[in-house]
Amino acid sequence: MTDVLTGAGALPQVRRLVTEVPGPRSRELMGRRSAAVAAGVGTTVPVFVERAGGGVIIDVDGNSLIDLGAGIAVVSVGNAAPRVVEAVQEQVAAFTHTCFMVTPYEGYVAVCEELARLTPGEHPKKSALFNSGAEAVENAVKVARVATGRSAVVVFDHAYHGRTNLTMALTAKAMPYKWGFGPFAPEVYRVPMSYPFRDPAGLSGAEAAARAMALVESQVGAANVAAVLVEPIQGEGGFVVPAPGFLPALASWCRAAGALFVADEVQTGFCRTGDWFACDDEGVVPDLVTTAKGIAGGLPLAGLTGRAEVMDAVHGGGLGGTYGGNPVACAAALGAFATMRELDLVGAARRIEGVMLPRLRELAARHPSVGDVRGRGAMLAVELVRPGTTEPDAELTGRIARACHSRGVVVLTAGTWGNVLRFLPPLVIGPDLLGEALDVLDEAFAAEAPA
Ligand SMILES: Cc1ncc(COP(=O)(O)O)c(C=O)c1O
Repeated sequence: MTDVLTGAGALPQVRRLVTEVPGPRSRELMGRRSAAVAAGVGTTVPVFVERAGGGVIIDVDGNSLIDLGAGIAVVSVGNAAPRVVEAVQEQVAAFTHTCFMVTPYEGYVAVCEELARLTPGEHPKKSALFNSGAEAVENAVKVARVATGRSAVVVFDHAYHGRTNLTMALTAKAMPYKWGFGPFAPEVYRVPMSYPFRDPAGLSGAEAAARAMALVESQVGAANVAAVLVEPIQGEGGFVVPAPGFLPALASWCRAAGALFVADEVQTGFCRTGDWFACDDEGVVPDLVTTAKGIAGGLPLAGLTGRAEVMDAVHGGGLGGTYGGNPVACAAALGAFATMRELDLVGAARRIEGVMLPRLRELAARHPSVGDVRGRGAMLAVELVRPGTTEPDAELTGRIARACHSRGVVVLTAGTWGNVLRFLPPLVIGPDLLGEALDVLDEAFAAEAPA
């Protein structure tokens, strides 16, 4: 039953290398890629994919790699998950597009009903659907500005919210995301994040929130703030988990100030952190929540969900887009939600943490270059530094990532300084495969950072 639902049955769940990585066919395709695809579009692992499912990716040379990236936290239900495939096939044969704003269809409404049920809080909620996380975040800002009649948006150090013009302004890191692409949208104010590994020892979440909001009060003015926008666990910024109390303190500051608390759950949502949403961990209820990535098993879909009266503040026709909530993507999302429930992927993310966290802590005990181990559920990371300091070591991080890739394990890096190895396995990965991936990580550390 489980294999039928995960799709793991269709592909052997093993790491198997039959050529060097990348193999000859991937190298040939990389040559064509270089000639035809813009240089600005990056590549993490230079292997071309033929199939993927469960916890493996099969490349065009026949290598079977263990996937600890899930397409950047997207295929949480597994690649080509059977419920998603079935729902997509049925929908694509029925109709592919009408534009929901022209002639609506049930799938869009059903996804919004699910978002109302699943996102934090029991209050009446409404949603609008889009194509990408960045678009959902842009629309959160639009809704917050209309609903409050204010313009300022507060964001945090290390934040990542996307690559459109407004979301570049919201994103912290210049290279590569913003470099040369300005001027950026105005009325965006950045304040310090709670970053326990780098904050003064003992700074509590409430104190870190007070540090941030004191700056807002003096430099922006609470009465001008439309929204405080935060990732409950930062993604591209390096899986920074704020100290307990930080998010509740921000939410209560917003309530007092008449500003909206907006949680960007694009990377953390849909079971990834061992809860349906990362805000659930401390019972924080945002006014608006943005979702994307894990929502639809790999099809492009994003949501903005919020208090009904806030979402309804926008005039008719003010939200939308040609493709937002495409019927095929909505069908995929409904298949993905069914899979999350049937396979208890909240529990699966917690079991992944149970396997990985002790192993990563052991690794840290052996390697002084591991400065911090952090994360929740199946969103875990290690931050690499020069031993005995907090000085980031991006060069070592890159070498270890490449050593994993050449041994057949897909890992990603992250962090403002590029010194974080992050792990985002599909939540359907089996324990044996996960254990093997961790053995490979041990090998990569032994080779690149001898203790
Ligand atoms: C927290 C967060 N917000 C927004 C985005 C942007 O999403 P997309 O790449 O779908 O536009 C991302 C993507 O990584 C993200 O992690």
